[in-house]
Amino acid sequence: MDADRWDERYRTAERVWSAEPNVWVVREAAALEPGRALDLAAGEGRNALWLAGRGWRVDALDFSPVAVRRITEEPAPRAGSVNAEVVDVTRHTPEQGAYDLVLLSYLHLPREQMEQVLESAARAARPGGTLLLVGHDISNLEHGTGGPQDPEVLSSVDQVSGVWQPLAEILVAEVARRPVDGTFALDTVVRAIRR
Ligand SMILES: C[S@@+](CC[C@H](N)C(=O)[O-])C[C@H]1O[C@@H](n2cnc3c(N)ncnc32)[C@H](O)[C@@H]1O
Repeated sequence: MDADRWDERYRTAERVWSAEPNVWVVREAAALEPGRALDLAAGEGRNALWLAGRGWRVDALDFSPVAVRRITEEPAPRAGSVNAEVVDVTRHTPEQGAYDLVLLSYLHLPREQMEQVLESAARAARPGGTLLLVGHDISNLEHGTGGPQDPEVLSSVDQVSGVWQPLAEILVAEVARRPVDGTFALDTVVRAIRR
């Protein structure tokens, strides 16, 4: 979906995603020492704002101006900060080696584009920094609920690990079951440490 379609989707509701951070982001990032974070395709900022509340200085990028405005309209977090910008992450090379945490939460792009973004995301982390991807897993199509229905854009542990392995040590690589309305969704969760 392009930025205009995302804008339209965001305009359909005051809030499209929950205000709470994603459950896997909380599980994987809660114990990290706050520093500088990059949230690629940050949406309305649920994860970026949660991180900032814990002291992180977050660069939150998304190509939907409507979503980015929602982040900037939130009251400034007391502890850290969020710098939200309208950016197409497929046309942007983030500063290399700059971040203690690079997060991708439910960014779904055609395979080749996604792999390019995954690689530049990995390069944006400093040595020892954390890479974290959460996405709708390809197995969700048959065994889970919700999420995009196009297999070309769904994520998999093999895809993410394949791109990150040469650059990072993979610590978590799983298909995780997320409860949704009495059933569950299957999410790819990969956490790695940049070499
Ligand atoms: C499913 S939402 C997830 C938002 C957020 N990460 C979260 O977990 O709440 C996907 C987001 O990806 C953004 N997006 C999709 N393609 C993008 C691109 N090429 N550049 C920047 N943002 C993009 C959309 O605007 C949308 O906000």
